[in-house]
Amino acid sequence: MTIVLLPGDGIGPEVVASAVEVLAGVGEFDFAEFPFGADAIERCGTPLPAEALTGCRSAEAVLAGAVGTAAHTTTPGSGLLRLRAELGLYANLRPVRAWLEGLGPLRPDVVAGADLVIVRELTGGLYVGAAGRSAEGAYDTCAYTAGEIERVARVAFRLAQERRGRVTSVDKANVLETSRLWRETVTGLGQDKFPGVELEHLLVDSAALALVSDPRRFDVVVTENLFGDILSDEAAAIAGSLGLLPSASLGDTAGGLFEPVHGSAPDIAGLGIANPCAAILSAALLLRYALYRDPEAAAIEAAVARTLRDGIRTPDLGGTATTAEVTRAVLAGL
Ligand code: NAI
Ligand code: MG
Repeated sequence: MTIVLLPGDGIGPEVVASAVEVLAGVGEFDFAEFPFGADAIERCGTPLPAEALTGCRSAEAVLAGAVGTAAHTTTPGSGLLRLRAELGLYANLRPVRAWLEGLGPLRPDVVAGADLVIVRELTGGLYVGAAGRSAEGAYDTCAYTAGEIERVARVAFRLAQERRGRVTSVDKANVLETSRLWRETVTGLGQDKFPGVELEHLLVDSAALALVSDPRRFDVVVTENLFGDILSDEAAAIAGSLGLLPSASLGDTAGGLFEPVHGSAPDIAGLGIANPCAAILSAALLLRYALYRDPEAAAIEAAVARTLRDGIRTPDLGGTATTAEVTRAVLAGL
């Protein structure tokens, strides 16, 4: 059972090392590591070397850190986009929980008990559409097929069936044609296949406000690539820090790519103070969604919650603990 590690750049290797320690605390796994991102550009001349891609294809699951350095900002990300496309990972699950109220900028009574999952479409839309420059300006295009919308919506409906039975579909159907197709398609799928799941539609601007003013109203949120990217960083305010947000990218085949939502954080790289919880929680998602080992996943999540409650927190959460101290506390709490 091989898990491929793509530590990447900046704090990526620091937080992936923590996640590996925690995985080793709950079971026996084989790991295979490959260069990725700016690190791979420096060493191999490309952000996603062929060996890394081959390794990912044959792995049980992939655990990644983050990519990007001051010298290489956009090209490393192209390796990540390519990896998602090559592995057919179209659904990006981003669970957001108020693990402990009072950690973030929001009032404790607003976030207490909030527990939602953003399902972000990952292989279509503005990030992959035709883009270019003309003499006068530049353009990016947003395109979606009904099939691309339906397959990610199905993931959201199924997830809602296992949770509180509620899907919020987020679009901008009052302005965008792709959003009108999005709304029609999600509505049709809901009526045909998931009549037991409650479905509501929200415009993205109003969803952005509701996320921070009334986050408890959400169970599963499904939305296109760009909106999902922005809303999930915003949702970090509910958890308290970007350093607490994990993600799982899934497709139609088994396995998947598991990585923190945050980037390579060059401002704190090498200081030993990165919050490892997002990477550790990503490892928990890997256990749950790729290896079907839910008890171990739940044990890791409980250990993270206990560590936060015990006040063992990195500086992004107002604490003074180091990456290593948080990792040790999570291991001890298993
Ligand atoms: P970022 O997420 O790296 O950092 C934003 C802020 O949050 C920084 O102040 C950082 O110190 C803090 N932060 C992030 N993760 C943290 C953690 N685990 N513990 C403590 N503090 C944490 O986003 P930014 O600064 O916009 O981008 C930095 C680089 O990361 C860029 O090169 C960008 O392209 C890349 N990036 C890569 C991503 C990926 O690989 N999936 C996602 C987002 C950005
Ligand atoms: Mg982002």
